Amino acid sequence: HASRPHFTVGVSQCSDDAWRQKMNNEMQTEALLYDNLELEIRSAGGDSERQIADIRHFIEQGVDLLIVAPNEAIPVTPVVEEAYARGIPVIVVDRKILSDHYTAYIGADNYRIGKIIGEYVASQLGGRGEVIELTGLSGSTPAIDRHQGFVNALKNHPGIRVLCSEDAHWLRSDAEVRADSLYRIYPEVDLVFAHNDQMALGAWQAAGHTPGGRTVDVVGIDGLPGPGNGIEMVRSGVFKASFIYPTGGERIIATAAAILRGEPFERETLLSTAIVDRTNATVLDMQSSEIIAQQQQISRLKSLADSYLLRYSTQRAISWFSLVS
Ligand code: FRU
Repeated sequence: HASRPHFTVGVSQCSDDAWRQKMNNEMQTEALLYDNLELEIRSAGGDSERQIADIRHFIEQGVDLLIVAPNEAIPVTPVVEEAYARGIPVIVVDRKILSDHYTAYIGADNYRIGKIIGEYVASQLGGRGEVIELTGLSGSTPAIDRHQGFVNALKNHPGIRVLCSEDAHWLRSDAEVRADSLYRIYPEVDLVFAHNDQMALGAWQAAGHTPGGRTVDVVGIDGLPGPGNGIEMVRSGVFKASFIYPTGGERIIATAAAILRGEPFERETLLSTAIVDRTNATVLDMQSSEIIAQQQQISRLKSLADSYLLRYSTQRAISWFSLVS
């Protein structure tokens, strides 16, 4: 019988952490629905040079489609444009490039997230207070957009002072070190806004180390389900708030499949987001535990189906063998 076309999709992730793992898992699961679609995922570990090499590898390998979350916009843009110019469809996800030479973009509005958090912080502090901002990697577009949205929101609240804005590279450890010295310089700080939950955790851990164990409110972004992640941190009162930053893995693969099959697709997909605070964290936590349980069930069913298929093909081979011998 005629075999259907087989597609290889190269996925270039800028980094590797719980949020990326969630996106990768969603993409792998969605890809199972298309039995002719194969993913190869590479992670650059937060290094733009390494990501350029990963994308070069995918170009040379001749992948049918490229999915890329660009670590930093400036250095990574040219190699993405190169892939696109060579006729490889490109889906840019989460972080952006500085060019419109791509096929589709899927992600959330980071400017809007920063803006809503600015409003939230101003209202939580009753219009008066001192804030420290820990930003994500300064060359990555979500850090730029979250910062812009945040400071623009605070323009309407002159009683809120941003004491400083420091780059902690999306990393918990960097945030902990930065926060530790910033608390000494600015002992009057009321609240830390960190651009992701990892850094928010670092800022919270550093607060425990200050003499007298000061209380600083901490707000993050990502709002991941599961133990030790954002939703739980808000529910247990460690964080004041977080913000769901959707990973969108299913949408990404569904769009990839549409592009490869020549079907219509959306060029720009905006994923929806929402704030997580003590008013909704318990409900979100319950619902996400249920979703996690269902996902585990799906993967158990998948391995069961695989073992049936294996047994079936083995039996077919055995009966064919007994027929000819
Ligand atoms: C994960 C991450 C998230 C953040 C996003 C921004 O690698 O650092 O924590 O929200 O990337 O691109």
